[in-house]
Amino acid sequence: MSITPPRKLFVTTALPYANAGFHIGHIMEYIQADIWVRFQRMQGNEVHFVCADDAHGAPIMIAAEKAGVTPQEFVAGIAAGRKHPLDGFHIGFDNWHSTDGQENHALSKEIYRRLRDDAKLITTKTIEQFFDPVKNMFLADRYIKGECPKCGAKDQYGDSCEVCGAVYAPTELKNPYSALSGATPVMKSSEHYFFKLSDPKCVAFLRQWALADNRLQPEVANKAREWLEGDNGLVDWDISRDAPYFGIEIPDAPGKYFYVWLDAPIGYLASLKNYFDKTGRDYDAFMADPSTEQYHFIGKDIIYFHTLFWPAMLHFAGLKVPNNIYVHGFITVSGEKMSKSRGTGISPLRYLEIGMNPEWLRYYIAAKLSAKVEDVDFNPEDFMARVNSDLIGKYVNIASRSAGFITKKFGGKVVSDWATATDPFLATLRDAAPEILALYDQREFGKALRAIMEQADRVNAYVDANKPWELAKNPAKDATLQEVCSRLLEAFRILTIYLKPVLPALAAQVESLLNLQPLQWSDIGTPLPHGHRINAYAHLMTRVDTNMLDALFEAPAAADDEAPPVISADDGKTAVEELEAEIKIEDFAKIDLRIAKIVNCEQVEGSDKLLRLTLDVGEGRLRNVFSGIKSAYQPQDLIGKLTVMVANLAPRKMKFGISEGMVLAASAADEKTNPGIYILNPWPGATPGMRVR
Ligand code: 2FM
Ligand code: ZN
Repeated sequence: MSITPPRKLFVTTALPYANAGFHIGHIMEYIQADIWVRFQRMQGNEVHFVCADDAHGAPIMIAAEKAGVTPQEFVAGIAAGRKHPLDGFHIGFDNWHSTDGQENHALSKEIYRRLRDDAKLITTKTIEQFFDPVKNMFLADRYIKGECPKCGAKDQYGDSCEVCGAVYAPTELKNPYSALSGATPVMKSSEHYFFKLSDPKCVAFLRQWALADNRLQPEVANKAREWLEGDNGLVDWDISRDAPYFGIEIPDAPGKYFYVWLDAPIGYLASLKNYFDKTGRDYDAFMADPSTEQYHFIGKDIIYFHTLFWPAMLHFAGLKVPNNIYVHGFITVSGEKMSKSRGTGISPLRYLEIGMNPEWLRYYIAAKLSAKVEDVDFNPEDFMARVNSDLIGKYVNIASRSAGFITKKFGGKVVSDWATATDPFLATLRDAAPEILALYDQREFGKALRAIMEQADRVNAYVDANKPWELAKNPAKDATLQEVCSRLLEAFRILTIYLKPVLPALAAQVESLLNLQPLQWSDIGTPLPHGHRINAYAHLMTRVDTNMLDALFEAPAAADDEAPPVISADDGKTAVEELEAEIKIEDFAKIDLRIAKIVNCEQVEGSDKLLRLTLDVGEGRLRNVFSGIKSAYQPQDLIGKLTVMVANLAPRKMKFGISEGMVLAASAADEKTNPGIYILNPWPGATPGMRVR
């Protein structure tokens, strides 16, 4: 592996399940990888950075069925909600694809054939499993419930008891039932396909790949060592699931599908191939090139899949194996763990909706990240202090103290006759570059930012020592003022290069202020030319304010700030509400009603009435709408459905964020007789964006 540019890098993050929007854990991982990718690009390296929806598996199939849509429609609805948060946090994937794309079907089958025919690593075994006679399907452990064999607690899952903590096999449950249909499951046997991970050649290869060369992070290598050198050895991996299953059919095995974890990582390759095909690049040549480096950023919960199954699959299919797997810890919020399904107290969409600057979060997360598999804690007070003190107080301060004088007093022109190679002010700033470079490359972002802020401290000491605002009062000191401010802007330019991987949008603003082409790492040594003209200073970044943080962590809402359920007051005697006063057709025409697709729907933490809907009204953007329908609907039941919304209602700031419209729903006049709330659903054929007239 070469570390001199230009390197050729293929970088991915883990593929999120296509059953929900992003939680803050996804965004943290994407920010980590995006910073690394931007840094590598600034070195002149060629980087291809891709991701995709992890579309397959029983949970998604079941969620789609509940939503009354096909699995393909269901995952398309989720995919439609991806662009907004990715763009919002400046996460620059080159491609976003789906594991249900044709490339993944083809690649998965090809890899399987090679493992079966060339490597002889596929075997079959007949296994017995619970089967739901009503749904006509085998049941994964999570879909079997029953009474705990130890303490007798009812409604416990098939693997462990939430009451007494006992761990058991689903077959040990008393009175088991299917969580899908309620039916009593029966034992049924079926032939399954296995990847022979226990084969000595697999174990030998993995020992070499995972344990040699200090490749993996020490914590990850320790895990791999436990698995590879433990007493139990490696067990063969069950890679098949029986129909009905949303997945890729196994070649020459009708009715059998690849288990989702077999085709998910192949989705990395499929997304790259899809991107290369679309952009006229040669996928096969790129992946066959021994100098291409492959890196996967993942969370600590999926190490097993990425350090054992994935390299083994690739190696024995005759393909390039990953150069490394970069593992991060979880994100906690004020020390609290995140739940995989509910996320944390921070919703990425809400963060954006309430107008928080995405680069605050990028900076804060970067400041907390290291190359270790440690959890990262988001603490609101710490967040505000860190961002305000470092970004505003130290970094932006340098430009705000100097740029205005250059434009007002010197026609925007900087001087740089002072900027000799031996100038100590400049030398110290430039000398920090190799250390900062190495820290970024090693994913030691927290340390890199500390090194950058040390430089910013030095520059601020120079501001305090030279006080441009005092110099500006004395016309005799103009030459000194111009040099001092020019030095400060040159320092600001270099600090901007150092910070650019973390703060790409702010760096673009600075490039425009300084009237420069996009800055690269190699520009560190090229100062602003003598007489170079900068543009007028515009404010670069605001401070974090507590109101925003309050809105991010909304306490339970006051009743009057919740969207009222669409129920009118009534004396309870009449079944049908009185009609409103008559209106003219022109009055009705003012209300712009549109067909909207519910691409996502989530609980609103802290609200007992609202659901948060992400709606597609065919505008090329998604809308956030809060609706007081929580008592009537489960979020997952609405995803993928069409409904009708008032699309020209003025956006309304609510406790939980901004609501951009209103979903129409019917309700009875008398809530006591019929408390139901019924959202409207158009007849088949209507599509998002159509106007209701
Ligand atoms: O754990 C998860 O969220 C999986 N969807 C990650 C898949 S990563 C890769 F293998 F596709
Ligand atoms: Zn129990």
